[in-house]
Parts: sequence; C-alpha cells; structure tokens
Amino acid sequence: MNQITQRPAIGSAHSKLILLGEHSVVYGMPAIALPFPLLEVVSTVEEISDQITLICDYYRGPLGQVPQKLRGIASCISETLHILNQPQKGLLIRLHSSIPIGRGLGSSAAIAIAIVKSLFAFHRQNLEPEVLMSLVHKAETFAHGTPSGIDMAAALSDFPIWFQKGKQIRNLQLGGPLYLIVADTGHFGDTRAAVLSVRDKFRAYPESTQKSVNQLGVITLEARAALSTGNLAWLGSLFDQAQAELVDLGVSDDSINRLVDTAKKAGSLGAKLTGGGRGGCVLALAKNLAHAKRIANTLIKAGASNTWYFRLDGNG
Ligand code: MEV
Repeated sequence: MNQITQRPAIGSAHSKLILLGEHSVVYGMPAIALPFPLLEVVSTVEEISDQITLICDYYRGPLGQVPQKLRGIASCISETLHILNQPQKGLLIRLHSSIPIGRGLGSSAAIAIAIVKSLFAFHRQNLEPEVLMSLVHKAETFAHGTPSGIDMAAALSDFPIWFQKGKQIRNLQLGGPLYLIVADTGHFGDTRAAVLSVRDKFRAYPESTQKSVNQLGVITLEARAALSTGNLAWLGSLFDQAQAELVDLGVSDDSINRLVDTAKKAGSLGAKLTGGGRGGCVLALAKNLAHAKRIANTLIKAGASNTWYFRLDGNG
C-alpha cells in the first residue's frame, strides 16, 4: 500500500441513548433520545495509490473483502463515493471508535455519519443535511432492517430530542439535571433481530403487542412532562414501567434483568434497557452524581463489563 502524503480528511459522530420509546417508536409512537458524547467515532480518509483499504478494530484490509458484519460499512462507503461521483479506489479509511458495537448505543449510525462526513470532506464537497440523512438511512437499513430513524437523529443532535416517525424532530428542554448511569451487559445485542422478534410477536399476538406499544407511547408522553418539571422520582417510575413493557415484548433478557435489579437494589430511581435490547446496555437514573457513581460501582461488581455515569444539564 503506497501512501501519498496529504492531510487526512476527518469526520466524526457521537453515540446516542434512548431514554424511552425504543421499539414502540418503530410502530409510530414517540420516543425520547439523548446525544451521548462520552463515546464517539472518528473516520479519517487519506489518499493511497491502491484499492480502498479499511482499517478498524475488527479488520484491516481491502474494502472488497470485509467480513459479513462490516458489509454495511462497505456499502455505505461505496454508496457515498457513488453520490460523490468518485472512483471506488485510492483511499485509506481508518475508523477509531470508542462506541462498543451491538450495545444499543447507536454505533452503526455514528459510524455511517462519520464515514459520510469524512468522504465529503476528503473530496471537498459541501454535505447537505438531506444527503447525509439519506446515505445514513441506507446504511441503517442495511444494519437494522427497518430503522425508525431515531438512532441517526440522536447521533446528529447535540440536544435531547423528541422523535416520532414522519414528524418534525424537536429539541427537548429539561426542567433540571438528570443523573444517568449506562451499564454494558457485555452481551452483543442484535437490534435487527430484536426488531424482527417484535414484528413476529405482533403477528402472533396482535392485541397484547399493540397494548404494550400503546402503553410505551403513554409512558413516553408522561416522561416528557416529568422531564420538563425535573421530577426525577416520576421519571424513574416511568423507566420501571417501560422496562416491564419491554420484558413483555420479549426484548429484555437475563443479562439485562440482572443489571436492572442490581441498579434498583442500589437505590436507582428507575432502570431499563436502552436501544434494541436482548443484550446491550441498561440505563439507570440516580438522585445525584455521587449516587450515580455508587450505582455504577455496584453494577461493575455485579458483572457489568463497563459503566459510564454523568450529569445531563437542563440545557443539554
Ligand atoms: C434502536 O436503537 C431503537 C429501536 O427502536 C429500533 C429503531 O427505532 O430503529 C429498537
């Protein structure tokens, strides 16, 4: 691989958290999501005199030979170059990501955003928001099957958002700070499979599934009110109610339930899965930052592979 010296072009994007409304958002209910800038992905593009080469944690080699799990990334790169009207060769693309893959933290959306931004920057082309969204939506469809679009919207936002499919995305004002803990079960959660499992459940049990989806919609509406008044106790009880519905939908699992129970026993105001579930991460609400730190430590002792805790301020 002969590298040509030139400053690399850079694109980046941050992770996301779904506060409430995962899965029900696929069926038209509202959801609330947050940017999670503690974790991010950076894509750099340099010119080389060779075929397109990808370097990331999971692979190092020609784009045409990536393993199955990276095919979405490969197709995002090809599609972006096609839109840019550029040849499918002569590039070295490096991905540096601190977002764990398959943990419901929006890694696929963030990777796609970073790649598209870096390729447009490399070719010195202005990237219109609609073009970015259309390319990322295609990559997300590859990764998730039928994405609602919430992962992309949250990964592109610097504020908490109110999201409903087909409607305008709104920034949410918080009435007070939130103290949150994210705990990684260490188990890979396949969002595509989780979304498909809910679709199967809809076919097999339409009434009870619709009831859970509707209830998640009601919980999310109440959460908007709890957030705007900064009522943490209320918000916490809504986390618990949402988790019960997600268990009924079949998208929780033992690894999630164990961490949810641990967080509750450690005094969390509420705890639930976040993202697709069936592995992935748990989101818990604390009373203050010191409390969040204690809960995070307890979750690590209970087997969480990683935790993050933080304060989210009223203005985002
Ligand atoms: C995944 O982060 C959220 C889901 O609701 C799927 C989607 O909305 O695309 C499970």
